[in-house]
Amino acid sequence: MLKKANAANIQNWLDKINTYNSTPDFGTTRVLFTECEIEAREYVKSEMKKLGLIVREDSIGNIFGTLVGSQPNLPLVWTGSHIDTVLNAGMFDGMAGVVGGMEALRLIKESGIKFNRSIEVVVYTSEEPTRFGLCCLGSRAMAGHLTLEDTKKLKDENEKTLESVLTDLGYDLDKFKDIQVKKGQVFGAIELHIEQNNKLEKKGLPVGIVKTICAPTNYSVEVIGCQSHAGGTSMEDRRDAYTASCEIALILEKLALKCNSEYNTATVGRVEVIPNAVNVIPGKVKFSIDIRDCEFETKTELIEELIKEIKKVEEKRGVEVNLIKENNDVPMKCDQTIVDILRESCEEKKIPYDMMISGAYHDSMFVGEFTPVAMIFVPSKNGISHSPDEWTDYEDIALGVDVLAKSLLELSNKEKL
Ligand code: GLV
Ligand code: MN
Ligand code: MN
Repeated sequence: MLKKANAANIQNWLDKINTYNSTPDFGTTRVLFTECEIEAREYVKSEMKKLGLIVREDSIGNIFGTLVGSQPNLPLVWTGSHIDTVLNAGMFDGMAGVVGGMEALRLIKESGIKFNRSIEVVVYTSEEPTRFGLCCLGSRAMAGHLTLEDTKKLKDENEKTLESVLTDLGYDLDKFKDIQVKKGQVFGAIELHIEQNNKLEKKGLPVGIVKTICAPTNYSVEVIGCQSHAGGTSMEDRRDAYTASCEIALILEKLALKCNSEYNTATVGRVEVIPNAVNVIPGKVKFSIDIRDCEFETKTELIEELIKEIKKVEEKRGVEVNLIKENNDVPMKCDQTIVDILRESCEEKKIPYDMMISGAYHDSMFVGEFTPVAMIFVPSKNGISHSPDEWTDYEDIALGVDVLAKSLLELSNKEKL
């Protein structure tokens, strides 16, 4: 019999990981390969070893902790998430899935139940785009969408390339090709994650099962107007890069609101106004656009409309708009058989659940390109995430882990999907 997950264990691990934090006075910040992130990696690896897992790391820092099954040559079962964060984040986004995976493996190991396929908890490198501006670096490389050449082009704000950061840390880039996971190597994967929306809380449900993961398209935008005197330049004569940017942001919002996809979002999250002075009309504005959708087609239509509208803003306001597409990712449908296993696990454990769409992206979006995936969500208090106010009750994570452990065991003993 599988024992119930231990909420205190989960809390201890999360609390300890949360001590590796570069902004302890305002939420949690743990940016890829900074001192605290490296320390958190070492801590997680040491806890995996204490659980009796075999630990290895690939050339981009994806960490694997293996619980060896009775048929270790069969394709593996995966669970896991990430431990890097956005700036001033909470202590659950990503970490709940890593710690939840470790707790699930502990339950399986201690139950003494025979399981065939080995089960691995994976810590994916840099799910957040915080340092290099591109999300899901580890899982993207696994899926073959991030090459060694790409690591030479990705730069952080100090112009350091991902390649040089990896080299300095001693990762063997001669083995970069080995990061890619071939179809058939992994049997299936289940990621546990906090919901980052308020739907479970509103319905009073402890668990969500994800049917589709929305994927982002990201642009860096540069609007060039004419820097000039705030008093001296008449209203009709100005080419204000900031008001043009605001108009683009509002158009984007309008397009997202009228889009008839089942779930979509659009956000301008980073804005840089140049020169950023009280009495100067901004000559240049740089900002980010983040568009998500559960369907690639509706996302593409929205982008085409946005580009048309931006042309009109350029003409009307006499500004130049340069759009740089950073990524254009494809939404992932979760695997129906694994979804059914999750539903059955919930039903057997009498845990009420709902089916849902993930508006946030996850490493499973890329993992799903080489193996069937599904996800378990646990409730986020007030739906808040990417914020110091992010919260999920440990008992809810424990319920999610109960579903996870049962489902991983099922997958491990399943012949085919
Ligand atoms: C991941 O953190 C996302 O932005 O969806
Ligand atoms: Mn996140
Ligand atoms: Mn996450």
